[in-house]
Formats: sequence, C-alpha cells, structure tokens
Amino acid sequence: MLKTLFAAALLAVIPSLAMAEPIIIAHRGASGERPEHTLAGYERAIDQGADYIEPDLVLTKDGVLVVRHENEIGGTTDVAAHPEFADRKTTKTIDGTQITGWFTEDFTLAELRTLRARERLPEVRTANRRFDGLYQVPTFEEVLKLIEAKNAETRRRIGVYPETKHPSYFASIGLPHEAPLLAMLERFGYVSADDPVFIQSFEVDNLKALRTKTRLRLVQLVASAEGPADQKSLQYADMLTLEGMKQIAAYADAIGAEGTLIVNSDGSDTGFVARAHEAGLQVHMWTLRAENMFLPPSMKRGDDPAAHGDFAGAVRAIVATGVDGIFSDFPGLARAALKP
Ligand code: G3P
Ligand code: CA
Repeated sequence: MLKTLFAAALLAVIPSLAMAEPIIIAHRGASGERPEHTLAGYERAIDQGADYIEPDLVLTKDGVLVVRHENEIGGTTDVAAHPEFADRKTTKTIDGTQITGWFTEDFTLAELRTLRARERLPEVRTANRRFDGLYQVPTFEEVLKLIEAKNAETRRRIGVYPETKHPSYFASIGLPHEAPLLAMLERFGYVSADDPVFIQSFEVDNLKALRTKTRLRLVQLVASAEGPADQKSLQYADMLTLEGMKQIAAYADAIGAEGTLIVNSDGSDTGFVARAHEAGLQVHMWTLRAENMFLPPSMKRGDDPAAHGDFAGAVRAIVATGVDGIFSDFPGLARAALKP
C-alpha cells in the first residue's frame, strides 16, 4: 500500500514517468542524412530505430503510387537535366497555387524510373549532396517490400505511415489515391487497427471516405495556419477547439499537428495535447529537425543556421506535453534523446 502511494506521489511530481514513450516516425526517411524519400533513407531510419517510416504518396500517369513529397519533381530529382523531358515542363494550379515544373502525373512509372533523386536542401544539408544521382524514386510497393525485408532481418515490426498528397487534385484528374493505397496495404497484410499503419492527410474528405473502407488508423494533419485544400470555408484553427477535435475523432484516430500548436516558442505546453486526448485523439507532432534554422530561438546553438542546435532539448520539451508520436528528419537522434 505504502509502495503504491509512493509510486503515485512520484508520478504526480514527475509526470513524464507516467507517459508511454512516443513513437518515432522517420519523416520522409532519415532525411537529415540522406535525400528524402529514398530507399536508402528509409533503411537508415529503420537501422537507427525508427518505429515508423513515412512515405508521402503521389501517382504516376499509369496510376502507380510513388513516393514524393509533392507531385512537382523538379526540386528533388534530376529531371531538369533530362533533355528528353524538357517539353514536359509546364505550369499547373495545384490546391490553388500556380506551380511550374515537372509533375509525376505526366510521367509513366518507366519514365520516372530513369530519374535520380537529389537532396532538397543542398545548402543546408551539404553532406547529402554526395548521394545525388544515386537513388531512384521508389514505388510504395518497394517501401513495403523494404519493411518486409527489415522485419525479417531485425525481428521487429516496423510501421508505415503513408500520406496522401494532394488527394482531391489527383481524384480530379482521374487518379484517386484510396483504392490503390488500400489494395497495396492489404496485399502486404495490413488490414486492421492493430496493424502498424497510420494513413494521414491534410485534407478531410479522403479520410472520411477511407473511414468507410478500412479499419486501419487514420490521422488528420493540421497546420498552424490556413485550412484543408478540400474545405474552402474551413480553417485548421476552427478544427482545433475541443468540439472541432471531437468531430475529427468521428473519422480519425489521431491528429498530426505542427509543433508550434503543441509547444510555445519558450518550450512551454500550449495545452493542445491534453485537449486532443480529451477528444479521444492521439497526437503526433511534425516535424523535429536538428538544424538551428528549424529550432525555436531558445534551442539554437551558435550562428550557423545549418549547424545542429539543442535537438535533445527540443525532443524533451515535446515529450513533456504527453505527445504520442514525433516526426523527425533525424530518427536516430530522436531515439537517443528519448533515452533516460
Ligand atoms: O506528414 C507529417 C508531415 O510530414 C507534414 O508535413 O509537408 O512534410 O508532409 P510534410
Ligand atoms: Ca508528410
């Protein structure tokens, strides 16, 4: 009895002891150390102890799910150096924004596979430039095969955390994500809420449609500004009251929130996580990066924006809110920061 009372008192004084450790989600792979969304980046993340790897998904002209952060691929591949694709450069309006470049939906998978990935932030992540030109754009199927192989190698069950990118835009051009996504997940045995899968989206209607078709866990992504591209009159702020969160909980299992919604710039808790938990939602925070330029002022170290700041301190501040998951470009450092 005394022991129980002592433990309860201790947990009240040190709340973090009462919390389960958050899952670590490798944001676009170990993208601080390898070009994002490459099999090499995902494998490094798994080897560093990530619980989940995160592929952002877009589609090719022939309807194949491939892994890129956006459908415009000029920023993360060498497509501009391919004269045979010069005439594919075009201007489109995607989610209300005019964008000029090359788009996955204008390439067959075979054409896309002739390209090679490049580091998105070459001025910041200069060491990653040495990998430019080495890796292909992966298919979602290849990511799931990699997980299957790493599960066998490590005897772990590594999770996958796919994001539908621009789902209403892709549906509008006859290339909806939902059917190929669920079919591919089912092929690899992912069907139930117990399976290590979270499907995420910044839009709303595709998640509601998925809810009617799958028991896999769903995540409503939210940002500190603007609103879902498919809900013209809705701002994310409107969705983040307790009532708004309860509405999200009717179709999603978790909320994926921008870090500034969860902790203030001085590292203090905004109360977001407690509100979401009251609404019945887990909270996964995006995105922790180690470089000074991405850290709040109190966690920067020195003047070099590309140098690492107090990343472990940033992880601790987030963990203290009771968050259930952390997206990071540096899953290995995040794992290390969680060690007592
Ligand atoms: O999906 C969580 C986080 O990845 C959202 O941001 O833009 O990196 O996909 P983004
Ligand atoms: Ca993402």
